[in-house]
Amino acid sequence: MKTMPKKIHILPSLLAADLGALAADIARVAASGADALHLDMMDAHFVPNLSYSPSVVSLVRRVSPGLYRHVHLMMTRPDLYLEPFAAAGAQTLQLHVEADCDLHRELARTRALGVRAALALNPETPIERVYPYLDECDELLVMTVHPGYGGQKFIAACLPKIRAVRTRRPDLDIMVDGGVNAETAVQAAAAGANMLVAGSYLFKMPDLAVGVADLRARCEAAFVG
Ligand code: DX5
Ligand code: ZN
Repeated sequence: MKTMPKKIHILPSLLAADLGALAADIARVAASGADALHLDMMDAHFVPNLSYSPSVVSLVRRVSPGLYRHVHLMMTRPDLYLEPFAAAGAQTLQLHVEADCDLHRELARTRALGVRAALALNPETPIERVYPYLDECDELLVMTVHPGYGGQKFIAACLPKIRAVRTRRPDLDIMVDGGVNAETAVQAAAAGANMLVAGSYLFKMPDLAVGVADLRARCEAAFVG
């Protein structure tokens, strides 16, 4: 069966933004040509760190209503927060396969809220863990760092997981998150990833729009579906 080539999506991660100039950085992402803003929610339990609450998702909606809001729930109990995040304007919710909840039920509930449902998995989690849920999610995130902090080094040992799931599901949106830069983005796209989150790499760029366009061009050239 022939499938359509996947579109490359570039998602700057708000975690690398300047907290003192959050609204300005959100507006900068909206003007950069990026496909969406990636927002990391941390509960100090699933990961050893805390980040934002649904109010930051509302802030993004207020500052740049046209900017797609992509929310990564690094939480032990994402099921308790689906409604607040959906009400705040999340358009995709990513739940971890390692979370402590009934994923079949929660992925269905996410979709019923009118939100794209995505699954994420940690570097040490075997790819087979997500297979029972692939028909119930719109997107899969293969983490390429241990979640919790920005600015970590890309774990190349995760690349075979991307290839395995791309071979199994040519149609699925596959995302990578963690340690993405010009070199590692190309490795991920060549393995079959079509959605790339980049925090510290993009926010360090003097011109975010140039960084987004460059990353997109490199990934479009390297993508193997
Ligand atoms: C890490 C987060 C990432 C983070 C990526 O736990 O899920 O989204 O912002 O940051 P960089 O691109 O700096 O590795
Ligand atoms: Zn993330």
